[in-house]
Parts: sequence; C-alpha cells; structure tokens
Amino acid sequence: MKKRIAILLSGRGSNFEAIARNVASGALDAEIAVVISNRPGAAGLAAAEKLGIPAVTIPSRGMEREAYDALLVEELRRHRADLVCLAGFMRFLSPVFVRAFPNRVLNIHPSLLPSFPGLEAQRQALEHGVKISGCTVHFVDEDLDHGPIILQAAVAVEDGDTEATLSARILKEEHRIYSEAIRLVLAGAVRVENRRVIQNRGARV
Ligand code: GRF
Repeated sequence: MKKRIAILLSGRGSNFEAIARNVASGALDAEIAVVISNRPGAAGLAAAEKLGIPAVTIPSRGMEREAYDALLVEELRRHRADLVCLAGFMRFLSPVFVRAFPNRVLNIHPSLLPSFPGLEAQRQALEHGVKISGCTVHFVDEDLDHGPIILQAAVAVEDGDTEATLSARILKEEHRIYSEAIRLVLAGAVRVENRRVIQNRGARV
C-alpha cells in the first residue's frame, strides 16, 4: 500500500505543488492524503482542490497552541497520515504534536541551518552578507528549525541579489530536495543517530 503524506501549509503552496508533481509522475511512490492549512483562503488549498486532493482548513487564530495541535493530530490520524510535511506552515508546533509523530514530521527551511532560523531567512542571509545560502530539509523536533538534517542544497548569493531573486533561486532547490528527502524517509533509507541522519547501508534509494 502506498504511504500517505499529509501537507501542512499556510500560503502559496509551491513546495506542495512540487511534491504533488513528483507523486503524479511516479518519481515519488506515495499519495497525498490531505492538505491542511491554518489560514483560510491559502492559495495552496485551492491548488489541492484542483488536483482532487482533500483540502482542509483548521483556523488557528486565537487558539491556544496545545489545543490547536491536538485538533491537527486528530485530523491527521483521521486521514491515516504516515508522514507529515510542513511546507510553509507558519506556526510553531508544540511537543504534543511532535510526540504524536516521532521522526515522522519534516520541514523545509530556506537557509543552510543552523544559520538563519525563523522568519525571513533569505533576508537574514542577505543582510548578514553570506556568499552561500541554500535550503534545508530536516526532521521536526521540539525546537524551531532545529531537528536532524536530512538534506541541504547550497545556493550562491550574487552581488546584485535582492530578497526576491535570492528567494527564487533557493526555491528551485527547495522543490528538488524536499521530494528527495521524502523519498529517503518513506523508503526507510535513513536513520537518526544522535543528531546525524545516516543513510542505511544497502538501502535501495
Ligand atoms: C518556503 O520558502 C519554505 O522554505 C518556507 O516557506 C516557504 C513556503 O513556500 N518554510 P511555498 O508556500 O511552498 O511556496
């Protein structure tokens, strides 16, 4: 049976769409069980509906973190999610959530972590003046943008870059490595030792 991916997003949803394309082409042997947004009207929800994927809004405004996360967990269980992929989900998850899916929650972040966690990572990188930035797919743990790193891609920062041009160059790499990381995790090809994500010997990847 195909593994079931759930996507959590808050906005545009381009990473979701890239994953959906890889599922449709067969490059990713999985199905997208549900797309959940905490923001009503997120563009990613409309994209999911267009593709015939269940799209659910669970508004988070004004809700306490643990209570909200419990709702999320319930919905994800209802859709029998094997893997939860955060794709521009603008909300910090509580231990209630993380412990419900141990090593089963992934996130993508638009910097080479541990540099520039948090919001506006591309702007942070530009303002700091780094020459190389990039993106990171990692397991989600109880700290922000912190869990074990599965894959990273480096992107050169050009002299003339603005936040928009750098973000666009990084986004291209995000779209590539997120599906690749999902594939590795779903195939059981990696394990976590301390903080290190190590490829299992003989794993067929
Ligand atoms: C991406 O840059 C991702 O790294 C970050 O939020 C953005 C989401 O973009 N976490 P999209 O909604 O997938 O287009």
